[in-house]
Amino acid sequence: MRVLVTGGAGFIGANFVHQTVRERPDAEVTVLDALTYAGDRGSLAPVADRVTLVEGSITDGPLVDRLVGESDLVVHFAAESHNDNSLDDPSPFVQTNLVGTFTLLEAVRKHGVRFHHISTDEVYGDLELDDPAKFTPSTPYNPSSPYSSTKAGSDLLVRAWVRSFGVQATISNCSNNYGPYQHVEKFIPRQITNLIDGGRPKLYGAGLNVRDWIHVEDHNSAVWAIVEKGRIGETYLIGADGEKNNLEVVQTLLEIFGRDPGDFEHVNDRPGHDLRYAIDASKLRDELGWAPRYTDFRSGLEATVEWYRANEAWWRPAKAAVEAKYAAQGQ
Ligand code: NAD
Ligand code: DAU
Repeated sequence: MRVLVTGGAGFIGANFVHQTVRERPDAEVTVLDALTYAGDRGSLAPVADRVTLVEGSITDGPLVDRLVGESDLVVHFAAESHNDNSLDDPSPFVQTNLVGTFTLLEAVRKHGVRFHHISTDEVYGDLELDDPAKFTPSTPYNPSSPYSSTKAGSDLLVRAWVRSFGVQATISNCSNNYGPYQHVEKFIPRQITNLIDGGRPKLYGAGLNVRDWIHVEDHNSAVWAIVEKGRIGETYLIGADGEKNNLEVVQTLLEIFGRDPGDFEHVNDRPGHDLRYAIDASKLRDELGWAPRYTDFRSGLEATVEWYRANEAWWRPAKAAVEAKYAAQGQ
């Protein structure tokens, strides 16, 4: 099977490529990635002999048309993915997340290629902290940020291309991922690398916002389950019942590093900061028989800390610039 992975040099896409190469010897993998600040050739180095990396944008119509025409399956991870950046400059989010997804949809429509669209639980907005409800596939879309609104728009494009043009597509909306190869701008790697450097974790606001953590390997095994067994036109929510508030995550990290549980800083909050995300993944579990393997958050976090300790050469080049940008915003 010829698989085109967009955004395969980013965090989740690179882990998807590693998992695919490891578990599917018959897969011929091509990665299309613009290698923005978030993409790293080095994330594919361990599988370089099994993967063709094409440096280019999903907004490049002729390039996308050619690569899609040479594929049996497209798994679409490429995106501008960071909420804080989208508040600073929404423009690349509109280009990549909306125009890029549109460009891919036109190509899979023309060539009749199976398409899986990777999306986020943030399209549903947020939940109250004390609300027992979780997001389900019928929760109304209500995105808060430029990032999540462009992801919501991209989901709607996929739905329309399925209905109007018969495109063979599925969509998944996943909660917050953690694991190896995640950019140091994101919450967990930022705190791990601060701690490795002897610094203090930085919590936005009071630290009570809740995220529903899932290990990236579990996200990607769910994506394969949907590609292989999911019903065309359906949306599947991916989550592993991992709700934690940000303060709890920071205190677990401090414990892993043998530091005092109060040794963190409160910094400026994110404007429009979503309160809580929580996923009801029962459709995925019941219909497709998927289950997560990384059910113990603390040991998943310990393994992630070990990965960042062992792979300083991978993250160090980005660290100073990320911290300078946050410092300028009081974060
Ligand atoms: P990331 O920022 O780490 O990686 C994004 C990748 O896309 C990078 O390699 C980047 O170079 C590439 N890219 C950006 N613009 C491009 C363009 N125009 N053309 C081609 N490539 C381009 O993101 P991530 O965290 O790995 O997220 C991957 C996908 O998963 C995104 O669609 C995101 O919305 C979704 N998602 C992420 C999470 C999470 O917790 N990180 C959770 C749910 C869904
Ligand atoms: O829910 C899925 C989404 O998860 C994905 O769609 C996004 O691509 C991904 O970036 C992530 O979005 P978040 O905004 O939830 O992730 P982030 O890592 O930026 O922040 C997680 C939480 O931690 C959030 O409540 C903000 C907070 N935070 C973040 C940083 C960087 C801090 O308290 N301190 C920090 O230094």
